[in-house]
Amino acid sequence: MHDSSSIESVLHEQRVFQPPSANTAGAPRWLIGSIDEYRAMHRRSIDDPEGFWGEIARAFHWSTPFSRVVDWNPPDARWFIGGRTNLCFNCVDRQVDSGHGDDPALIWEGEPIDGEPEIRRLSYRDLQAQTSRLANALRAMGVAKGDVVTIYMGMVPELAVAVLACARMGAAHSVIFGGFSAQAIVDRVIDADSRVIITCDGAWRRGQVVPLKDNVDAACDQLSKQGHAVSHVLVCRRIGGDVAWTTGRDHDLAQVANDASPDCPCEPMDSEDLAFLLYTSGSTGKPKGIRHTTGGYMVHTALTSRYVFNLIPDAGQVFWCTADVGWITGHSYIIYGILPSRVPTVMYEGAPNHPQPDRFWDIVARHRVTQFYTAPTAIRAFMKWGAEHPGRHDLSSLQVLGTVGEPINPEAWMWYHTHIGGQRCPIVDTWWQTETGGHMITPLPGATPTKPGSCTLPFFGIDAAILNERGQEQPRNTGGLLAIRRPWPSILRGVHGDRERFIQTYFSRFPGSDGKPPTVDSPSPFYFTGDGARQDQDGYFWIMGRVDDVINVSGHRLGTMEVESALVSHPAVVEAAVVGMPHEIKGTGVAAFCTLEPGHAPPDEPAAKALRAALREHVAREIGAIAKPDSIRFTDALPKTRSGKIMRRLLRSLAAGEEKITQDTTTLEDFSVLARLKESEEG
Ligand code: WT7
Repeated sequence: MHDSSSIESVLHEQRVFQPPSANTAGAPRWLIGSIDEYRAMHRRSIDDPEGFWGEIARAFHWSTPFSRVVDWNPPDARWFIGGRTNLCFNCVDRQVDSGHGDDPALIWEGEPIDGEPEIRRLSYRDLQAQTSRLANALRAMGVAKGDVVTIYMGMVPELAVAVLACARMGAAHSVIFGGFSAQAIVDRVIDADSRVIITCDGAWRRGQVVPLKDNVDAACDQLSKQGHAVSHVLVCRRIGGDVAWTTGRDHDLAQVANDASPDCPCEPMDSEDLAFLLYTSGSTGKPKGIRHTTGGYMVHTALTSRYVFNLIPDAGQVFWCTADVGWITGHSYIIYGILPSRVPTVMYEGAPNHPQPDRFWDIVARHRVTQFYTAPTAIRAFMKWGAEHPGRHDLSSLQVLGTVGEPINPEAWMWYHTHIGGQRCPIVDTWWQTETGGHMITPLPGATPTKPGSCTLPFFGIDAAILNERGQEQPRNTGGLLAIRRPWPSILRGVHGDRERFIQTYFSRFPGSDGKPPTVDSPSPFYFTGDGARQDQDGYFWIMGRVDDVINVSGHRLGTMEVESALVSHPAVVEAAVVGMPHEIKGTGVAAFCTLEPGHAPPDEPAAKALRAALREHVAREIGAIAKPDSIRFTDALPKTRSGKIMRRLLRSLAAGEEKITQDTTTLEDFSVLARLKESEEG
């Protein structure tokens, strides 16, 4: 274990943006309207978690009230003990019961656009009927409470219905992102011991059809060779046309749902019953099935939705999160956190640049979106495509902008603020993880002054700290390990089938409660996030990236994100990824991969050399000579997962000059990127 206490912080961002004041024309009512109000509520949530969370949780529907708020026996947290509730009921039925059955719950827009786009609006009553039918159909196929149903679909309304139908009947879902391969399905289905798959014939993506059903067929063949029988496959028809059909196993989703009764009471679930598995990659190969349970996840995702996005029912708001439901962001902030808030949630089927690079802004204007939540990687793509695209649309409905997934470089933050937010909308940079279930460190839009690139301050109930390896708090402006010192309601409850990996990954970084090195039997009480970060003089958190990505250059540790941010602040660079590479003298050198602004691509090798020299000087100026990249490659695209995460391990291999990529590339979005990157080697 290395000591990260000296991760050097080299980013100097000084700008502060005050939250819009309550009486700004056109500004919404802010649920938390000042930093003092935030601080008072945060203090109470830490001093009296039982009182704070108990009160919040009692506002939900429980068929049996909980008797205790929290029980913490590291690494095991239990929340709302003894309570019974149902996620689907709190998302859907409660709204119907309170007289809002006909209000829009889900606004869906399809990708193909031929004149008018295809739009479907589902009310809470529609969701109630459709989830009931599907839940009954699943029961008829032998799915029982606690079974795992695999969902591998495109972004269609039936996906939201499938997820909620599982919750309704007490089955756990395992949603697999529709961009993953057949092999990914095989691994996850086996790990979860799942026997039923819900899929689509295909999905639209940038005008092309993704053959989802073919992939499921290939996975099922592979699975049966491995002795694992999938008994039922339900197929939603999105594309039309023929797909291969295995009689007895395959069923038409619309047909089985239609044949089922629209009456299905919600199954009372223990607060700690499994709600879902969601697979995420770790530093080693095998994906981890992150376990989330019912009550705590429900309360945390709904509370963060409300305060972080400032959701107010009946105020004409429309919320849009651009993530795929295949990721935790889609689970928590398209479905489970938003529906209980009674603000309609937008779901868009396709790509941001289909048919044109202005599609997102077209959607914002058409549906009068008030909250917009996306990822920094998308914002950098928008920057590259040009400000004229949002400029053509009326974005005046927007109230709050959000980002998630990686640190946002200040340039992208400023572009978002200027060209999307009209310098009017607060930006919430939300730090969290698949494992945390919901937001952890984030501004509140009406309360928190923001600094571009900082996720600011912990949410209610979150006791975040920067620690060294001994578990001691680091001084301000000193990098260290980001840890959470006590459980929150939506903390992961385990890694499916792997207790040891659960403890090793998250509860073994800091000493145990007895001060001794942690063991599987006496784990650390602090949750380790895997991220390096620092707190500035105001207590604001600045994420420096995964600790695995930290580069040690001549004994000085550099967060990769800060070097990347410096590169991107040069006018020629759109996006940059930095990794460590073996270096004769320094031990580790800095290797940079940059995509360039159109018009800045060097026409020949002398021009490329000159640009490299200019970028090195630029980084030296922004950060210091220590961070100067030793190698810079220009490329038209970076290798990314389909969720937009840069695949640094591939870049590390390339930077190290490895001839053959022997690593797992199944999650890579575009294989040709790799070949082109290899050719881009510095001359
Ligand atoms: C990792 C979690 C949470 C949903 C999407 C990603 C990085 C996430 C931020 C942010 C800086 C961020 C962290 C974290 N990350 N949000 N606002 N600022 N870094 O979920 O795949 O579980 O990844 O994403 O490194 O640990 P995930």
